[in-house]
Order: sequence, then C-alpha cells, then structure tokens
Amino acid sequence: MTAVDVVIMAAGKGVRMKSRLPKVLHRLAGRALLQHVLGCVETLSARRVVVVTGNGAAQVEAAVAAWRQPGKPGPLFARQEPQLGTGHAVQQAVPLLPDDGTTLILNGDVPLVEPATLQGLLDASAGGRLALLSVEMPDPAGYGRILRTGDAVRAIVEHKDASADERAIREVYTGFMAVPNALLKGWLGRLTNDNAQKEYYLTDIVKMAVEDGAKVVAVKTADKVQVDGVNSPLQLAELERAFQLRQARALMERGVRIADPARFDLRGALEVAQDVEIDINCVFEGKVQLGEGVNVGANCVIANAIIEAGAVIHPFTHIDGEKLGVRIGEGAFVGPFARLRPGAQLGPEVHVGNFVEIKNSTLARGAKANHLAYLGDATVGERVNYGAGSITANYDGANKHRTVIEDDVHIGSNSVLVAPVTIGRGGTVGASSTITKDTPAGALSVARGKQVSIPDWERPKKAPK
Ligand code: UD1
Ligand code: CA
Repeated sequence: MTAVDVVIMAAGKGVRMKSRLPKVLHRLAGRALLQHVLGCVETLSARRVVVVTGNGAAQVEAAVAAWRQPGKPGPLFARQEPQLGTGHAVQQAVPLLPDDGTTLILNGDVPLVEPATLQGLLDASAGGRLALLSVEMPDPAGYGRILRTGDAVRAIVEHKDASADERAIREVYTGFMAVPNALLKGWLGRLTNDNAQKEYYLTDIVKMAVEDGAKVVAVKTADKVQVDGVNSPLQLAELERAFQLRQARALMERGVRIADPARFDLRGALEVAQDVEIDINCVFEGKVQLGEGVNVGANCVIANAIIEAGAVIHPFTHIDGEKLGVRIGEGAFVGPFARLRPGAQLGPEVHVGNFVEIKNSTLARGAKANHLAYLGDATVGERVNYGAGSITANYDGANKHRTVIEDDVHIGSNSVLVAPVTIGRGGTVGASSTITKDTPAGALSVARGKQVSIPDWERPKKAPK
C-alpha cells in the first residue's frame, strides 16, 4: 500500500464572491466549503494533509484548527504569499511532503467530491502514475482542456493559452489529481510562468510527465456536482440546491415522505425511523433524530433535537437544542408557532401549543401548555395544565431560579410564578395570580386584587361646547 498525502489549495482570493470572508469559509449546507473537503479527506486515512493558505490565511487556519476533532491530528498549513498560480501553491507544500507515497491534490472550493471518487483517482495512480480527474463540460470556457493523442493524454492547455481548435475540446481538467511524490517534486521544480497569465500552472506537469515517459491517465467522471467549484454566490446557491436534492433523495429512498424535495434543507445529520413525514420548507440543523411516524408540519426549523415516535410538530415551530438538546416524547404535540429552546424536555403525550416558549424545563407525561405561555427553568409534573398567558419569572436580574409545579396542578390563565417557588401537588392557582410563596398540595391559591363592582357607574362625559 502506497502512503497517501493530501494537498488542498485554498489560497486563492475568490474575487467573484465579493465578500470579506475567505471563499473557502463560505457555507454550504451549514458547513464551510473547506470543511466538506476535509470531511471527505478524512475517509482516506491520509498520512499528511496540507492546506495551502494565502488570502485570509490567519482566518482560514483558525477555522480549520477549530474544526479539529479531539485526539486527531489536524492538517498542516503551508502559506502561499503571493499567489502565483496552482503550481506555485503546491510548491509551497513540498517541504511538508515525504519523498515516497502519492499526493492527492484537491481544491478547497470544490466541496461535494465523494470518497469513492478520490479513491478511484488513487487507484488509477497505482503508486506510479499521474492520474487526473476529467469531466465533459457542455460549456468548457475558462477550464484547462485535456489534449489527447488517440486515447493517451498528452497535456492540459489552459483556456487562455488554448487555440481555437483546443477551445472546442469539451473534456476539461477538474482540478483533482493524484501524483507520486517523487515525480511531483521533480516536475514542480521545473515549472515556469511562461504563459498567458504569467502563472506557475500545476497543469504543466502533465506534458513533463509525457516527455519523461511517465504514465498519465485521465479518469473521467460523469458526476458534475462532485467537481463543481464555487466562485460566486450564484454558483454557491446552485451547488447548495444540488446537494440538498441529493440528501432529500437519499432520505426518500429510506422511506421518508418529503412533501417537496426542492423545499427541504438539511444542514447537519438527520436520523429517521420508519414512516416519517416532512412537509415543505423545513430546515434541519445539527443532529436531529425523528422517531417512527413523526410528522413535521410546514415551515419548521429544527436543530439538535430528539423527537420520539408518533410526535407531531405543527407548522411554524422553531426548535433549537443547541448544546443541551431538546427532547420531545412519544405522541407529543408541539405547535403551531411554538418555540423550544435548549434543555426543553417534553415527556410522552405532552401538548405545547401556539406562542409557547419553553427553555431548560421538563414537562412530565400528559402536561399541557397550550397557549401564549413561558416556562423557563421549570419542573412540571404529570397532567399539569398550564394556563394561557402564564409565565415563570425565573430571572431576578442576577440569578435564575427554578419553579416546581407538581403533578395534577392547574395553573389559571395569566399567572406569574415568581421563582424559586413550588406549587404543591393537585393544587390550583387562580387566574391572574402572582405567586411568590410555595403553595400547599390540594389548595386553591389566589393572589390578585379582589373584584369590586360599583353599581350604576357613570363614565365621565365630555363637557358640551
Ligand atoms: C485550474 C486549472 C484548470 C482547471 C480548473 C478547474 C491550473 C493552472 N488550471 O484553473 O486546468 O480546469 O482549475 O477548476 O491549475 N489557488 C491557490 N493559489 C494560487 C492559485 C490558485 O491556492 O496561486 C487555488 C484556488 O484558491 C483554487 C484552486 O487553486 O482553490 C484553483 O484555482 P482557480 O484560479 O480557481 O483555477 P484556475 O487556475 O482558473
Ligand atoms: Ca486562476
């Protein structure tokens, strides 16, 4: 087995993005372009991974360092300043590459390449050959063209250096190659910038290989999405759609019923059981699990949550568990227009209705908060009914305090529960009460101004003019 090293070129400016953010840090499906490439590379168990940075180098390197998984070595960096072309970019990585093994050269702005494609290129290189990945482009303008004599690859000519005949060739170089390190180092040392762009072209090594009698193979891919680069906001959006469609298809193949795959967005990982239904315009982020028979209504945003079997998420619900997570129990109903924040833990059969916000609170089996309410830092017992307009006053301006509502409590509408406070089991709180002290089990607690009715009350009248 030949050792594999990887060089990812990420020094270019990305002028057409017209952004202050370095191009490779722009996001596709919630992750930076470069993060996608590194994720794919991870599957190869490469010996070394070198990222060539230049424009926004410090920002790119800091981002890469932040993505590193604990216990795993991160990539190495080679700075390319100034940027004198792709050949020059790889030259900067040479001191970090051993003399044996094969180097796979990738672009940081081509995010959707898949492991099997890279493996295919490595297999074609077979420890001794220069292997290129090519693709047929309906409009090849701007790309390097693959020149062949018969079947054999002879050279790559860049668009700006190509003759009219050469420009008619539709087979182009994708920017992916696998090259034995020893040969690569020799060829890079011989590059010149004697061309239309006065750049050191990596692609010039192909004719050197042919001159030296080394074997050159071009592997053609039929999957444009895998080799498409991002140069502009439009291309980013197009690639995002292509990727989302792929994810939606994969889920539908596993039985998920997605109302419209063109209106589905997954920016993370979605685990699904059988008979899950997802209506239009839903966004899933981070890690989300949907249990058997879960139904998600239109226009929901759901991040970092576990939703158990049979739960129904009605339209326009926003759920974000962030680091603490959100859990929704079996057969629960949430929404429409509900908001579940980190640490919301709903037991089975819980009902959470419209304009209800829940943060860092546990609701036990069968508890209901159906309208216009806030529960923060609360422990809510079984079968509790939490009235419309009620809130926990959990924050005293400095500290957060817990509210405990024991089993079978009924909280009347428009109540304020000033934490820390406990409402005893089976108790009732009269509507519009402000509860500041613990209440005994079974009691009716009322804390509001007594009602007064003044008979025959005449409202003030305007004085006649
Ligand atoms: C390059 C290829 C071309 C191929 C095309 C596929 C060369 C000379 N040409 O075109 O044959 O069809 O890719 O997209 O290689 N970069 C650096 N440093 C530099 C220049 C570029 O890191 O000095 C990086 C860019 O950030 C980018 C990648 O290299 O990730 C490719 O550069 P780009 O300018 O997009 O490609 P071209 O040179 O136009
Ligand atoms: Ca260029």
